[in-house]
Amino acid sequence: MPRHIHLGFDMTMTHLNGRWRTPGPWAANDYPHIGMFEDLARTAERGGLDMVFFGDGSGIPSTWESSHDEGARWGLMWPRQDMTPYIGALARVTQHVGFGITYASTFMPPFYVARLLNSLDHITNGRIAFNVVASTRRADAANYGFEELMNHNDRYELMEEFIHVCKRLWDSIEPDGFLWDRATGVVCDPKKVHRLDHKGKFFKVAGPLSAVPSPQRHPVLINAGGSERGISAAASFADLVFVDAVSRAERVKYREGLSAAMTEHGRDPSEIGILLYSSVVVGETSEEAKAKKERILTLIPDEAIGPLLSHTAGYDFSKLPDTFCPAEINAEIVASQASPVGVISRLAAELGPTGKISRRDFFERARRQVTGYQRTVAGTPAEVADFMEEEFVAMGECGGYMLGSAYSAQRDLLDVVDFLVPELRRRGRFRTKYEGRTLRENLAS
Ligand SMILES: Cc1cc2nc3c(=O)[nH]c(=O)nc-3n(C[C@H](O)[C@H](O)[C@H](O)COP(=O)(O)O)c2cc1C
Repeated sequence: MPRHIHLGFDMTMTHLNGRWRTPGPWAANDYPHIGMFEDLARTAERGGLDMVFFGDGSGIPSTWESSHDEGARWGLMWPRQDMTPYIGALARVTQHVGFGITYASTFMPPFYVARLLNSLDHITNGRIAFNVVASTRRADAANYGFEELMNHNDRYELMEEFIHVCKRLWDSIEPDGFLWDRATGVVCDPKKVHRLDHKGKFFKVAGPLSAVPSPQRHPVLINAGGSERGISAAASFADLVFVDAVSRAERVKYREGLSAAMTEHGRDPSEIGILLYSSVVVGETSEEAKAKKERILTLIPDEAIGPLLSHTAGYDFSKLPDTFCPAEINAEIVASQASPVGVISRLAAELGPTGKISRRDFFERARRQVTGYQRTVAGTPAEVADFMEEEFVAMGECGGYMLGSAYSAQRDLLDVVDFLVPELRRRGRFRTKYEGRTLRENLAS
C-alpha cells in the first residue's frame, strides 16, 4: 500500500502581504474576525487535513530605512493577532483537525509555554502541535527587551534547553498521579509528582507543572531551522520539520543532512517527518491554473518588495547600490546574527564569491520569493498530485506538505479539499477518514 501523504494548511498568510484584497468569500467577516478562521478550520476538517497552522512574529517590519511606514502601509507580515485564544474557539467547532501554534523560545519562559500548551492540548482533546522558532527578526527581539539579536548559535542552544525543560515539565506528573478520590479526599499521589530543580545555562525552573497531564502529554513538536545549527536542534527533539526548499536537489540534501544529524543524536531518521512548505493552485486546465499563478506576482506593489524582504532577511536593502555582490551582503547578514540561509545566501551560492547582480534584477527575483510565487505549483489536480507524489518519494516518503495560501486563502483551501484531496485519495496517498484520536496518532498513520 502506498504511504500516506500528510497535509497541513498554513493560515498565517490569510490576510497578509496583499491576500486580504483578493477575491474570496469571507461570509462578511474580515480579519481578525473568528468567523473567518472557523470557516477555514471546518473546511480543512471536511478535507481530512492533519492540521491548520499558525506561524508567528510579533514585530512590525522596520528594517527598511529604519521605519515602520511601509510595513504598516501595505500590511506586510503585520498585523498578526496572538492566535492562542483563537485555537480555543476553533477547537469547539471541529473534532479532528489539529492546530499548529508558534512561540519563540528566545523570548518566552518555558514554564509559561509548557503550561499554556498543556491547557490547549486539553481544550482540543489532544490536537496541538508546537512550532518552536528561534526568531531571526530584530523587530520581534525589540519587543522583548533585546537591542541586538542574540547570537545565532546561542539561540539554538537556548532552544534545546527550552525544549528539554518543557518535556520535563510535561513529564513531571505521572499520568495516573491524579486520583480525585472522593472517599479519601486525596487529589494526587505526591510520589507521582516530581520537581525539576532545573538550573541550566539559560533557565532555572523548579517545577512541577501546575496542570493535569494532557491527552498527548507532549504536543507534536515542529521546527523549521534551515541552517546547519537549526537542523541539528530539530534533529535532537522534533517530530516534524518544515522545509522551504526550491529544488529537488535542495530537498534531498536537506533530508540527508537531517537524517545524518538525527543519527548523531541517536535517533532513527524515520522519527521525523518532513513537511515541504509549498503552495498549490489547482485549475480545471493547466492553462487556467498557470494564469492564476501569475496573479500571485501582483499581490503587493513594487514599493513593498524591499521592505518585506528587508524584514525577513534582517538587512536594510534600501541602501543597495545599483549593482552589488550578494556574497558580500550575505557575509554582513551572517555577521549580524540573522539567519545564514535565505534568498541572499542562495544567490551568493549561485553567483560565487565575487559575482554581482543589479538592484533591479535582485528585486525582480525577490518578488518571486516574498509573494510565494517561487514555491507555488500550478496545474490540474492530476498534475499537482504528480508533483506531490514524486517529491514525497524523493524525500523518503515520511511527512508530506504544509500548504501555504497561494493567492486567496478560502478559495485555495477549497481547491485543496475539493479537487486535490480526492485525486490523492484515488491514488491511495491520502486518508479517507481520521485514523486516530489525537494529532500525534493521525500523523503516525
Ligand atoms: C514553513 C516555515 C515556517 C516558519 N515559521 C516561522 C514562524 O512562524 N516564526 C518565525 O519566527 N520563523 C519561522 N520560520 C523560520 C525558521 O524558524 C528559521 O528561523 C528559518 O528557516 C532560518 O533557519 P535558521 O534559524 O536555522 O537560520 C519558518 C520557516 C519555514 C520554512
